[in-house]
Amino acid sequence: MSLPQLNGSACWVPVCDVESVLPGGGACVTFEGVQVAIFRMEGSGKWYATQNRCPHWNEMVLSRALTGSHGDEPKIACPMHKRTFSLRDGRCLSGDDLAIETFAVRVEEGVVYLSTPGAAFLERERSATSEARQPRTFAIRSSG
Ligand code: FES
Repeated sequence: MSLPQLNGSACWVPVCDVESVLPGGGACVTFEGVQVAIFRMEGSGKWYATQNRCPHWNEMVLSRALTGSHGDEPKIACPMHKRTFSLRDGRCLSGDDLAIETFAVRVEEGVVYLSTPGAAFLERERSATSEARQPRTFAIRSSG
C-alpha cells in the first residue's frame, strides 16, 4: 500500500480500523494530542473528519454528533445545541458565524487514514482546549 503525500508537509496518518466506526456514527481520535472527529456516513459510506471541538461553547463533543445531509450537503449536528456544520467545508449551516476545520480521509485495506492536520490548527486547538477545561460557573437564582 502506498499513500501519496498531499503536499510538501502533509501526509496520511492511520487513525483507526474501519470496523471501529459504525455506519452513521463517529469516533474521536487524537493526533499529536489534539482531538479529531471521524465520521462514517450511512448510505454513501463516505468518510469525513473535523475538529472535535464545537466552536459554539468550545465543547469536545462533535464526534458524538448526529450525521445526515442538508440537500446533498453531508452535515453533522452538534449533540449539545444542534448547530449544524458542513462536512465538506466546515461552514455552519444553521446561520451562526461559526466554522469548523475539516480534513481529508481515505480508507485503504480496512484502515482509516487522516490527512495530517497543520501546525496552525494544532496550535489553535491546544489553546482552545486549555480554555475549554476552565470550570464554567453558573449563577443560580431563586424564584422566591
Ligand atoms: S456546544 Fe455545540 S452547538 Fe453548542
